[in-house]
Amino acid sequence: MENDNLIRYGVSIQKGLQDQFDSYIALKGYGNRSEAIRDLIRESLIKEGHANKEAVAIGSISIVYDHHIHELSAKLTDIQHDFQDCIISSMHVHIDHHNCMEVIIVKGKLLSLEALANKLAVIKGVKTGKLTLVY
Ligand code: NI
Repeated sequence: MENDNLIRYGVSIQKGLQDQFDSYIALKGYGNRSEAIRDLIRESLIKEGHANKEAVAIGSISIVYDHHIHELSAKLTDIQHDFQDCIISSMHVHIDHHNCMEVIIVKGKLLSLEALANKLAVIKGVKTGKLTLVY
């Protein structure tokens, strides 16, 4: 994938900034600047929501909720069954007497992953619902 339509271009940058960047990429363990720059670009695009929504993405959705709320667990399960094509695995942790945490590993079109995360997050009683993309 990395070699598809590779283009090269020069970048003007202050020496001080480049030195900081070189320290950063050494710390992160990158073999070269190009891969570090590509990762930063991808990360920024994902953060800004400008990534291709039709492209396949991988990540996790973390939710925290009070399992005492009537029907909440059943609603969350129903939604996950509707999105079973996107769900690779999930883990349930009982945080305390009231709260449960679920981490759902997802893979699919970004459009679908966002839809799933939003459907889970907006249910009454779900305290946090966050999609984190790794790719
Ligand atoms: Ni639980």
